[in-house]
Amino acid sequence: MLILGIESSCDETAGAVCNNGTIVSNVVLSQEVHHKFGGVVPEIASREHDSQISSIIDKTLEKASITYSDINAIAVTYGAGLMGALLVGLSYAKGLSIALNIPFVGVNHLEGHLYASFISNPENKYPYLCLLVTGGHTQIWEVQSPGDYILHSTTVDDAAGEAFDKGARILGLAYPGGPEIEKMAVNGDPKRYQFSIPKIKSSPLDFSFSGLKTALLYKYREMSQNEQKENVHHLAASYQEIILKSLFAQLNHVIEKTGVEQVSVVGGVAANKRFRSMAETLNNDTLTIDIVFPPMEYCTDNAAMIAIAGYEKLKNGIYSPLTLKANPNLALNDGEIA
Ligand code: KG4
Ligand code: ZN
Repeated sequence: MLILGIESSCDETAGAVCNNGTIVSNVVLSQEVHHKFGGVVPEIASREHDSQISSIIDKTLEKASITYSDINAIAVTYGAGLMGALLVGLSYAKGLSIALNIPFVGVNHLEGHLYASFISNPENKYPYLCLLVTGGHTQIWEVQSPGDYILHSTTVDDAAGEAFDKGARILGLAYPGGPEIEKMAVNGDPKRYQFSIPKIKSSPLDFSFSGLKTALLYKYREMSQNEQKENVHHLAASYQEIILKSLFAQLNHVIEKTGVEQVSVVGGVAANKRFRSMAETLNNDTLTIDIVFPPMEYCTDNAAMIAIAGYEKLKNGIYSPLTLKANPNLALNDGEIA
């Protein structure tokens, strides 16, 4: 079964083709126009998707060496994300579905991220814990079986990706902040500045990052311009380190609570090399915990993960009606498609 995946939930216009669960092409266009605004501008994102989607899908099929008439079904993100951005991909998928007389299925973007780890590791054993770290979410889910998710931990304010993005803005770095902080941190000392993460008494397994961002802001403001320039790599390294430590700390608590020791880390922040190397050390030190990350290209937004998640539904006869609506606030456990 040849499936065309389409993703347009935020600022990536992406297409992918999978052939019976194997990715044969994966094309991602990141909208650079937002960089000068320091974040994604929703209206501009929708317009960019609208002007690029057709050529991105053409390119995706070309790379897979197939034509439109070869596609058997379409998988498309219908939430969560920006309303206008989602509508571009979803409407395009519906149009193609009618024109080619083939079915389509709506895929939850968060479930797509989760399935990214299956692309390289199809034999994921159940149950496992999924640490989902994106620009909008920081959550630890227990995946008991496909589609059966229990939430153990979430952020009470900012997401980890958002903390990277806001921290980068404070330090005068570009958007998206994660890769910029990571680059800057390479030559910095992660122990130079001591930041701490607040514990939430009422929900000790949850994350909180907004106080950390404020602490960085105060530290930066109290420095002279020269000091800021000289220490930006140390600030980036110390800030990155505390975000990652917080992720590991809560993960360890959930492992203790559930006894589940298989972990999959997914989402844009999973592309962070320091994060991946810290996990490797943990894997070596603690023989029982098994942490896996998707290959880099499947961590940040892409359509390969949407095609794979869609394949799991389509092969079980799950399709969506043309009445399927985009849902900007879809949660991972919002269940099957209406
Ligand atoms: O999963 P994703 O591409 O989109 C969402 O669904 O949100 O995640 C984007 C987030 C951004 O906040 C970005 O700064 C962060 O992932 N990110 C990173 C890295 N690459 C992307 N954070 C830390 N290190 C990275 N290398
Ligand atoms: Zn995403």
